Formats: sequence, structure tokens, C-alpha cells
Amino acid sequence: MGLYAIGDLHLSLSVNKPMDIFGEVWKDHTEKLRASFSQLRDDDTIVLCGDTSWGISLEEALEDFRFLDRLPGRKILLKGNHDYWWETAAKMNAFFAEHEIHTLQLLHNNCFYYGNYALCGTRGWFSDEETPDMAHNRKVLNREAMRLETSMKAAGGRQILCFLHYPPLYQGYACPEILELLERYPVKACYYGHLHGPSHKRAIEGMHAGVDFSLIAADYLRFQLKKICE
Ligand SMILES: [Fe+2]
Ligand SMILES: [Fe+2]
Repeated sequence: MGLYAIGDLHLSLSVNKPMDIFGEVWKDHTEKLRASFSQLRDDDTIVLCGDTSWGISLEEALEDFRFLDRLPGRKILLKGNHDYWWETAAKMNAFFAEHEIHTLQLLHNNCFYYGNYALCGTRGWFSDEETPDMAHNRKVLNREAMRLETSMKAAGGRQILCFLHYPPLYQGYACPEILELLERYPVKACYYGHLHGPSHKRAIEGMHAGVDFSLIAADYLRFQLKKICE
């Protein structure tokens, strides 16, 4: 039994979205992911940190869900900025059930227990002084911070592993609202995606304010799942 994480699979089995235009590393990325997942077992848990499918509806993402469902392990999904297929949890769960997809679960205003840990998270948000519509950004950021806190409260005091799509911290940027939560709750580590290609060099990894940060975007990991613990 093991806990793994990876973000930004950017699957596109039913939409024409070649990924290798983003660099040689993306060539055959679906096959690379299949190979890495195939080393897992059904009692493993994998957290997918957003940007899972290019589909713009649940129907368009269905082949990507089926691809994931056929791979070993329980997959816990959170939302990324490109997951346009994302709906209410009730709709998504009903869609999975209708299509006999049984290994995908949603991290959204909730948490999952894994051994002594609670797995918490949300998409997160990115905004800075140059963002054009600050009022809108403030609203989205506050909502994301509330979602994260709801998830952390559900942990019931357990030690938390936090999963976000957007990095709350990278070179030249910090998101105080999210970082404050990471410090106030008993968070051991924070895993995030979203940064691709040349942005990898802006990633911040390692210990900051008692939290161990890791970038787990798939291209950064060369499409190998990151093992967190047994
Ligand atoms: Fe993203
Ligand atoms: Fe991405």
C-alpha cells in the first residue's frame, strides 16, 4: 500500500490536443503515464493535482476517466485551471457511477484519511497586483481559501498532507491567504502542480515555515508518480 501524487496529466484521449508542441518531454506522455501507473497495485492511492483532462464536458473527458479507471489504485482528483469538465461533486459522482467508473474520487470541500494522515486540498488561486480584475480575483481567492479550510477542518486534528493545483509559493510570488492556512493547521507537506516547462525553474521546494513543498507537475516528474509514503 502506498500514497503517490502527480499533477497535470493533461490527458486528451477524445479531444485533439497534441501535447508534444509543449516540448519533447511531452512526447507519448499518455504511454509514459500508463507505464508508471502500471507498477502500482489496487490498494495504492494516487492524488491527481488538477489539469487532468482537456475535455470541456464530462462526456468529453469520459475516455480520460476510463483510462485512469483501468489503471491500478484509487485516484483522488482535485480541480486544475484547465479542468473545464468539472461540475458539482454530486454530478461528477453520478456520472462516474453511471459509467461504472469506480476508482475516481473527488477532493472538494472534504478530506480523505490515509493512515494517520488527512489528505486535504483545493485548486488554489493565483493573483498579484497586475491582475486586471482585482475584485473578481479577491472573490475567487477567498472562496478557495475557504474550501481549503473546510477540507482542513475535516481532518479533525490529524497531520495534513495538502494538495493544491496552483503553487502557493514560487520565486517572485507568495499567496498569503493559502500560506497562512498551511501554517495554522498541522500541515506536514504541500504538493502542487501547474508550473510547466520554463516555469519549473521558479518552483520552490523543501522546507518553508515548517511545511515541505514539492512541485509534482507531470512533466517536471518526467511522468513518474511521486511516492509520498507507504
Ligand atoms: Fe494549470
Ligand atoms: Fe497544467
